[in-house]
Amino acid sequence: MGIIVSGMRPTGRLHLGHLHGAVRNWIRLQEEQRCFFFVADWHALTTDPEHTARIKTNTFEMVTDWLAAGIDPERAVLFRQSAIKEHAELHLLLSMLTPTPWLMRNPTVKEQARDLGLLVTEQEDLTSINYGYLGYPVLQAADVLMYKATGVPVGVDQAPHIELTREIARRFNHHYGAVFPEPETLLTESAKVPGTDGRKMSKSYNNAVFLSDPAPDIERKLSRMMTDPRRVRRTDPGEPSDCPAFNLHQIYCTPDEIEYVMNGCRTAGIGCLDCKRVMIQHVLADLGPIRERRAELENHPEHVTKVLERGNEQARAVAAATMHEVRGAMGLDGD
Ligand code: TRP
Ligand code: SF4
Repeated sequence: MGIIVSGMRPTGRLHLGHLHGAVRNWIRLQEEQRCFFFVADWHALTTDPEHTARIKTNTFEMVTDWLAAGIDPERAVLFRQSAIKEHAELHLLLSMLTPTPWLMRNPTVKEQARDLGLLVTEQEDLTSINYGYLGYPVLQAADVLMYKATGVPVGVDQAPHIELTREIARRFNHHYGAVFPEPETLLTESAKVPGTDGRKMSKSYNNAVFLSDPAPDIERKLSRMMTDPRRVRRTDPGEPSDCPAFNLHQIYCTPDEIEYVMNGCRTAGIGCLDCKRVMIQHVLADLGPIRERRAELENHPEHVTKVLERGNEQARAVAAATMHEVRGAMGLDGD
């Protein structure tokens, strides 16, 4: 049985992008492998260290959604990164083995820094970013190696961090003896989930359909979702592959429905609202049970807290054993 580790920053309530991008994949993995899924709360500080006020509630909201969506604490260990101090110790030790150029060339760090307006100079050097931010892929390596992961499910943007993790593991094993397996990157082949305005679905764009949205809100958001701009009038034909809403059809509809929608769109045989209704029914049916489980969990918030407490304990036990081994291998187990 493989060991799977993956983390998510505490962004609060989850939306359809999270569900189809990561959570459904985690649910599949928990069936057959030993899984550790955690709230990467220290990672949230790397890009936004001043704003910590919402971390606690965001953590709670996110874990509530994990459980509502079907992440099963009987199968997977669910924990909070900052509750396991060993991650900080391993991060420190691994940082000693990480040449700074490995970090400076990380394309994801560069891209994020550019998005955040931190790459101001022409050379696009990384001198204006925080030390913790530059080094967060090392923290990620610690997160992964701590549980001796054999596989890490991530989106393509996180792949460079797992490659770095492998390089660090190789170095560690070379210097101190074989402690860590080199984890495989399990690239999540996620279906594209655009937001209602056609951009990437994101809380900050205000274009997200949340798992916890009441059914009428979901209906309203999706019926107003952007479509192929060519369909100005009902009689104008459209092209589904240029329609953001159609991405949801592709996730949710049967082959027959897809066929019907594609024909109807290209011939202007159906209107966009009729077209969307076919998909909206499926989304509502999919999210209905999740919303119900969420409502139950909201009535029993202590259950969510207990799940995390128990998961923290389980993770801590594994982390303690790994660090015992690491300190021994490095000769740091003195006295
Ligand atoms: N950095 C990841 C993100 O921003 C979250 C993360 C932290 C992670 N540690 C991890 C993902 C370990 C996979 C494995 O999405
Ligand atoms: Fe999109 Fe359907 Fe409208 Fe075509 S008919 S543009 S696929 S919503």
